[in-house]
Amino acid sequence: MNRMIAPHTSSTSAPARRTVRKAVVPAAGLGTRFLPATKATPKEMLPVVDKPAIQYVVEEAASAGLDDVLMITGRHKRAIEDHFDNAFELEQALAAKGDTVRLDAVRDPARLANIHHIRQGEPLGLGHAVLCARRHIGDQPFAVLLGDDLIDPRETLLSRMLDVREEYGGSVVALMEVPPEQVHLYGCAAVEPTGDEDVVQVTGLVEKPSRQDAPSTYAVIGRYVLDPAVFDTLERTPPGRGGEIQLTDALQDLAAGGTVHGVVFDGLRYDTGDKADYLRTVVRLACDRDDLGPEFIAWLKEFVVGLESRGEQVDRRRSVA
Ligand code: UTP
Repeated sequence: MNRMIAPHTSSTSAPARRTVRKAVVPAAGLGTRFLPATKATPKEMLPVVDKPAIQYVVEEAASAGLDDVLMITGRHKRAIEDHFDNAFELEQALAAKGDTVRLDAVRDPARLANIHHIRQGEPLGLGHAVLCARRHIGDQPFAVLLGDDLIDPRETLLSRMLDVREEYGGSVVALMEVPPEQVHLYGCAAVEPTGDEDVVQVTGLVEKPSRQDAPSTYAVIGRYVLDPAVFDTLERTPPGRGGEIQLTDALQDLAAGGTVHGVVFDGLRYDTGDKADYLRTVVRLACDRDDLGPEFIAWLKEFVVGLESRGEQVDRRRSVA
């Protein structure tokens, strides 16, 4: 799909007038779906073309006006910390060569926002990871962006969610319609319409339901704007599915009180924690790049033609046999 998309920064209210200033990026999960690559590297650091996935996520937060980003890191803390820090020797070497393009690329991650790190000692679940942010966030609403979940840089989902928080208060989740056979992979929302076409009231949430138990085909994706009330709820939330403290369970409690809304998103989103989706993401974003795209697309077309003729040969061999 090659859609025309408005540039990232458009929104209905100026970022300066919004109350949300801080973002939390949980990146302490085990990443078991991507082993062995994630044995010694967090999945959030896997490269998507030439930047780690988590850099796209921080760029998205910064574009929406969130200038304070707290990373929740786990056992691979160093790689993430180093990426968003200065790299003195590397910078010196590039400066000595006069390689300003690469020098900028190396410096960019540290310049995106005020970046902080906190360690989640044990991966006790996404809800627990968010709870680790409590002291840093204080009593203000905040955004949560999952570090392996990419929203295409041309989309404006987060800005829209921040505006919805300003208008409706409470917490806001991002929802995407998925095929019924995929609901068991996501948190799933029961919803009712509001006066806004792209906004729904969330009346209930279930984490990874079976197809039969799913209240809808609206899946919760990795963007949230949370009211600080979520912290007290998380403190009371017992381990749920998979023995983990689930953010969905805490949001279910808040939804029962009528304070959760959903923004329905139908744009481009990539789950880089999943191998097949990761591959699609790299190909798609590489095709979109001015510097790499034209040559890569030409190669890709030839490659696909080669695949098709190879498939035809196999089919012919099968029909002869
Ligand atoms: P996932 O549900 O993708 O789990 O986490 P995971 O363990 O990272 O990956 P798999 O399923 O084993 O492959 C969603 C997000 O929440 C973070 C992850 O880093 C990811 O960004 N997370 C999850 C934490 O920060 N801490 C946790 O305890 C669990």
